Amino acid sequence: NWSMTDFIDQQIAKIRETVGDKKVLLGLSGGVDSSVVGVLLHKAIGTQLTSIFVDHGLLRKNEADQVMDSLKGKFGLNIIKVDAQKRFLDKLAGVTDPEKKRKIIGNEFIQVFNDEATKLDGIDFLAQGTLYTDVIESGTSTAQTIKSHHNVGGLPEDMQFKLIEPLRTLFKDEVRELGEKLGMPHDLVWRQPFPGPGLGIRVIGEVTEDKLQIVRDSDWVLRDEIAKNGLDEKIWQYFTVLPGIRSVGVMGDGRTYDYTIGIRAVTSIDGMTADFAQIPWDVLQKISVRIVNEVDHVNRVVYDITSKPPATIEWE
Ligand code: XMP
Repeated sequence: NWSMTDFIDQQIAKIRETVGDKKVLLGLSGGVDSSVVGVLLHKAIGTQLTSIFVDHGLLRKNEADQVMDSLKGKFGLNIIKVDAQKRFLDKLAGVTDPEKKRKIIGNEFIQVFNDEATKLDGIDFLAQGTLYTDVIESGTSTAQTIKSHHNVGGLPEDMQFKLIEPLRTLFKDEVRELGEKLGMPHDLVWRQPFPGPGLGIRVIGEVTEDKLQIVRDSDWVLRDEIAKNGLDEKIWQYFTVLPGIRSVGVMGDGRTYDYTIGIRAVTSIDGMTADFAQIPWDVLQKISVRIVNEVDHVNRVVYDITSKPPATIEWE
């Protein structure tokens, strides 16, 4: 609509004026906000923007490739992709406490980002996908911390950059509208929320590559069935978790002793409260059959039927 087009023109003019002939750095997470900032800045200042995309190995199946294909391939952003899977896995080895895991992933992200950023010369600005809700929350939050949220792309405190936050006045739905106006693919812009610590908090307890593989593969099946059954825009967020328990099953005529996968699917407005999604039984059945058939080391699928509160959306 007209107001969003105006917004784009105004922001582009403002960014050009602020940046001049200087260089800008952006941390891309693959999420909606930083992707929209990337495309907007690229439109405004082209090659003066350099983006760093840290692949922490905790992304969903094919996600890193999709980000690169779309933002680098289609939109032509200059993106440095850092393959840091091993660094994260090494740091997470032996750690089972959810808050410790979150902090490790957040800190390691900043370190990897820092390491890359210091290799670049002459950067004056750091762009961030801060939204209006982030501005409000960080200003007034007196609530007790339930989980230490981290947003990939967080500002390394000791870095000497000036900040550019073109989404500061927008709500999430406006960011999505902006993304579509900028010509970004519908499915990228309408992505379900994905936490900064990624699949690292969906493998309950210690994170290992084998367990990540199980979560990644089962999540992929779930997303595929949700989309095939036309539920992807009806359910706010849906994913699988690996609680780490194993139980007895039977396959063919043999006994199995394998992992359980939990399915979490919720409806919500803003993530603050949520209800479990009432997915039709036949769809749940298809999901269950496919996960057990297609994902190695899974012999049981359960559905999480708790609301938030008392449960949270993520299990860790
Ligand atoms: P919870 O589990 O607290 O999650 O009910 C509420 C919403 O927030 C997402 N979430 C995160 N998002 N960084 C993020 O950017 C994080 O560390 C993080 N932890 C949870 C979660 O996926 C849900 O949408």
